[in-house]
Amino acid sequence: MQLQDQNIVVTGAGGGIGAALVRRFAQDGPRTIVLADVDGAAAQAVVDELEPGFDTVVVEADLGTEAGNVEVVRAAEEYGPVDLLCLNAGIAVGGGVEAPDEDWYRIFDINVMAHVWAVRAALPGMLAQGSGYILTTASAAGLLTNLGAAPYAVTKHAAVALAEWLAITHGDAGIKVSCLCPQGVRTKMLFPDDEDLAKSTGAESVRMQGVIEPDELAEVVAIGLADERFLILPHPEVLDYWRRKTDDYDRWIGGMRKLQARTQG
Ligand SMILES: NC(=O)c1ccc[n+]([C@@H]2O[C@H](COP(=O)([O-])OP(=O)(O)OC[C@H]3O[C@@H](n4cnc5c(N)ncnc54)[C@H](O)[C@@H]3O)[C@@H](O)[C@H]2O)c1
Repeated sequence: MQLQDQNIVVTGAGGGIGAALVRRFAQDGPRTIVLADVDGAAAQAVVDELEPGFDTVVVEADLGTEAGNVEVVRAAEEYGPVDLLCLNAGIAVGGGVEAPDEDWYRIFDINVMAHVWAVRAALPGMLAQGSGYILTTASAAGLLTNLGAAPYAVTKHAAVALAEWLAITHGDAGIKVSCLCPQGVRTKMLFPDDEDLAKSTGAESVRMQGVIEPDELAEVVAIGLADERFLILPHPEVLDYWRRKTDDYDRWIGGMRKLQARTQG
């Protein structure tokens, strides 16, 4: 897809990957960008830095609710059907099955249900115009795993599953889907102020695999969207890891156990 003259939504646009996507998309002359974030001031700061020559709308909304997602999509639809819906807001929660139910539900709402709710709101408009593009930010953890953080790994697998299901189900109706699966990216999520949080979410072991800058990632996304590729991998080695996993699942689990012992033992 070409980004020029498109009506674009980016969620989680107040920082990190979302802000970098906005900066990159802005270079190609879109018609509109709607920036959604629970931190509206942070999203406004991204706009202020850009001084864009196109319409921008900041929506402060909790995307862990259906109402928040509907509000964002309706704000974009003031400019016509959504052309590119980037579902990027996400959180990390660490721990295993002992993590409290409220943490599991919270991360499911933001990392998975937000995608369901936003697509539910935007799809009728896209189908009516016979085209639309959905970009979801999952993670390499959605293809592989996340050591030490079951809720993150599980929700990111679900995000990949939803993206591929949408691509298959609505492809013939002109709906295109890309699924972004990065490993480490230099953002607040990977480098939180609280180092204990980084330990509990497995961020420390992700950092050891290599970290790229958000603007570097955004460039790879722009190329992936231009090529209309389903899987966008800013860390190309993830494809090799994923192939090794599917080639021999048991061997891969053994390897991950060793890696866990090395990085967390
Ligand atoms: N940073 C990495 O290494 C990495 C790797 C793989 C995938 N990801 C994914 O990339 C996406 C963006 O993460 P990031 O690294 O830029 O993190 P980040 O924490 O820097 O940015 C996330 C943004 O989402 C917003 N947000 C969080 N919860 C929200 C909610 N309920 N409603 C609205 N906005 C909300 C935050 O305010 C923040 O601006 C996430 O889905 C994350 O899982 C990140």
